[in-house]
Amino acid sequence: MDAVHEIIISKMSGHNVNVVVGVLVLFIITFSTHAHPTNYRRSIDYLIPQFYDHSCPQAAKIVRAVVTEAVARDERMAASLLRLHFHDCFVKGCDASVLLDSSKTIITEKISNPNRNSARGFDVIDEIKYAVEKECPETVSCADIMTLAARDSTSLAGGPYWEVPLGRRDSMGASLSGSNYNIPAPNNTLQTIITKFKLHGLNYVDVVALSGSHTIGMSRCTSFRQRLYNQTGNGKPDNTLDEHYAKEWLRKRCPKSGGDQNLFPLDFVTPAKFDNHYFKNLMAYKGLLSSDEILFTNSEKTRKLVKLYAEDNEKFFKQFAKSMIKMGNISPLIGKHGQIRKNCRKLNR
Ligand code: HEM
Ligand SMILES: *[C@@H]1O[C@H](CO)[C@@H](O)[C@H](O)[C@H]1NC(C)=O
Ligand SMILES: *[C@@H]1O[C@H](CO)[C@@H](O)[C@H](O)[C@H]1NC(C)=O
Repeated sequence: MDAVHEIIISKMSGHNVNVVVGVLVLFIITFSTHAHPTNYRRSIDYLIPQFYDHSCPQAAKIVRAVVTEAVARDERMAASLLRLHFHDCFVKGCDASVLLDSSKTIITEKISNPNRNSARGFDVIDEIKYAVEKECPETVSCADIMTLAARDSTSLAGGPYWEVPLGRRDSMGASLSGSNYNIPAPNNTLQTIITKFKLHGLNYVDVVALSGSHTIGMSRCTSFRQRLYNQTGNGKPDNTLDEHYAKEWLRKRCPKSGGDQNLFPLDFVTPAKFDNHYFKNLMAYKGLLSSDEILFTNSEKTRKLVKLYAEDNEKFFKQFAKSMIKMGNISPLIGKHGQIRKNCRKLNR
């Protein structure tokens, strides 16, 4: 458009400039409203923190209150709710698809490899939804509840706080294959992980910062055992894993066979505190998952960030909040798309 205006202006260079500008402004106003009639009529087509300010001003408060209680009962719940949001956003966008149970038309994502036997917090989301529905029926989406719960979990565990853009709606379906293939696995290569993030508009900085979530929560032995006994198939442990740590802690907790579901903290120094110890552990070759340690060992650009965040907690917190907002904005359903589920586990009739 700018180029067109310049041509018009230069052709009319002999005339009064004010008249030309006036005509142009009118032209632009009429042109743009006619060019995008749907956008123009739609009340909102992006997420904003104030979305529920009039329809449910107490929404965020209710979410925080229920999350606070849940984390007081079980401190790991902060980690579980944070992870649930990630596993939602990487499958069809942040649309609460992960919450749907199987039904006639839906195969639940809860049975995917990344979720089966490890995704938790569904009952807490139900509890939040129940409390919010009581106050504002059919108004606040399950997808927004999960996003708020992830933010509150982070801040309650001692991490940063940020304003959450809102207005997501809930999906009409789920994707088991999406859950299996889009969510990175703990033994994926760094390149694969970066590619999986890139598919959602996230870059390597987001990969490193968001992996910092592993400063809280637990992992089952099955997700890292390969590193302890037979990393490359030659019968030897991962040589980027501190041998003393592996011998005195990890192999004791995770025998060569059996104990698949035994739990070990992702950050053994401060397992329930959201801080930058995760990055310090990586520098000491005490990352738990292969996907953690490779951030330090496999590429110069991610190693630099690991060092930066290990040295500067503030920088980690700032980038984490930024990257969480970015992740929360993955393909939301907006406007008339999707629905506001009454029960997060199933579609409205
Ligand atoms: C970079 C790729 C990632 C991989 C490969 C990965 C993998 C894993 C694995 C294997 C576990 C342990 C599951 C188990 O076996 O029990 C885990 C736990 C966890 N993940 Fe990730 N993750 C990644 C990124 C993220 C992101 C982006 C977030 C959040 C923004 C996140 C948050 C968490 C949390 C909080 C836990 C602990 C959950 C709990 O204790 O209930 N992870 N992750
Ligand atoms: C990664 O882990 C899965 C599940 O345990 C296993 O089937 C697969 O062979 C592993 N891949 C590599 C490259 O080690
Ligand atoms: C290690 O894994 C390889 C390939 O999966 C297998 O052939 C080998 O028997 C394993 N070695 C040990 C000591 O478990």
